[in-house]
Amino acid sequence: PPLDNVINLHDFENVAKLVLPEKAWAYYSSASDDEITIRENRMAYQRVWFRPRILRDVSTVDWSTTILGQKSSLPVYISATALGKLGHPDGELCLTRAAAKHGVIQMIATLASCSFDDIINAAAPGQTFFLQLYVNRDREITRKYVQHAEKRGVKGLFITVDAPQLGRREKDMRMKFVDDGAGAEVQKGQEVKKDQGVARAISSFIDPSLSWKDIPWFQSITKMPIILKGIGCAEDAVLAYEAGVQGIVLSNHGGRQLDTARSGIEVLIEVVKALRLRGYYPDPKFEIYVDGGVRRASDVLKAIALGATAVGVGRPFLYAFCAYGQEGVEKAIQIFRDEFEMNMRLLGARTIKDVVPEMVDASSLSSH
Ligand code: FNR
Repeated sequence: PPLDNVINLHDFENVAKLVLPEKAWAYYSSASDDEITIRENRMAYQRVWFRPRILRDVSTVDWSTTILGQKSSLPVYISATALGKLGHPDGELCLTRAAAKHGVIQMIATLASCSFDDIINAAAPGQTFFLQLYVNRDREITRKYVQHAEKRGVKGLFITVDAPQLGRREKDMRMKFVDDGAGAEVQKGQEVKKDQGVARAISSFIDPSLSWKDIPWFQSITKMPIILKGIGCAEDAVLAYEAGVQGIVLSNHGGRQLDTARSGIEVLIEVVKALRLRGYYPDPKFEIYVDGGVRRASDVLKAIALGATAVGVGRPFLYAFCAYGQEGVEKAIQIFRDEFEMNMRLLGARTIKDVVPEMVDASSLSSH
């Protein structure tokens, strides 16, 4: 179907399902076990209701913001998704080019199909990137990777902490891994298990011994802000703050890790409450992000109202480039823009700062 027919982010998923090879669709769309968490990621947003304000002169509305001190045209960043070349020959570069054109921040995946340098070399002057890190059992490899990223101007290090072992994504596990050149750099020279799907084949280097004791080491090897990606409860949010990191992502990895883990928006309520109780929130030096199931600007505004600085979006951007390349990603960004304009006007919020807790009724979330 022509790109003009795409009018919301769900459409990209439907088109991707039509055009992608079976193996790519299985890897991208799968979630762990019974796929309960991936469904809940959508449903939780539907339990949050707006409390709109009227008569506020919304002739101009502005949804731009800053994330870790970096300008962003949207309160949304492109979250890391691995193996972009399974879905498009240009892989992650589709994201890079679209992000450059529209002032959106891209988080580069450790397991991107394009090499880190290929992505950075394709960047526009001054383009902002974050780096997603899977920590290698060999810390020298990790140290070099992180320090190289910092040298090349990456503005934030998102350490994935919810994947000491990859989840059982059964749709994906039914596929045999065949190396077709879409693989990531880091897997080279590594022993891979080829009989259990793409995810397991590429992830054997990840260190399951990673612990809170390692955080000072990361702080000693880089000056980039450190963010822990994959926090699922208030207790760990408090530990993260006390460890001196600059932020957390409340995430269940798009439903791909622990099945029946709660959604990020649900977790946000208890995290803000626990941090506030200890005087840790609000703190301009500690940002909270949410990801998983965000498909509408209204979802983003709900997360912001409840205390998030910005949200991460994974599959929609991935599906957009699988179906339409760079242009698809640009269209996805445009859809967000149109939706922000309408939703902020109808909500009575002229800027992101106007999006306050009183604008939502979250009493149907269980941790309220
Ligand atoms: C991911 N995600 C992910 N996260 C991470 O830290 N490292 C990674 O390599 C990947 N790879 C990856 C691949 C694919 C195909 C998907 C769908 C997701 C998780 C990602 O960063 C983010 O947390 C979720 O995708 C957010 O959920 P939505 O937006 O996809 O619903």
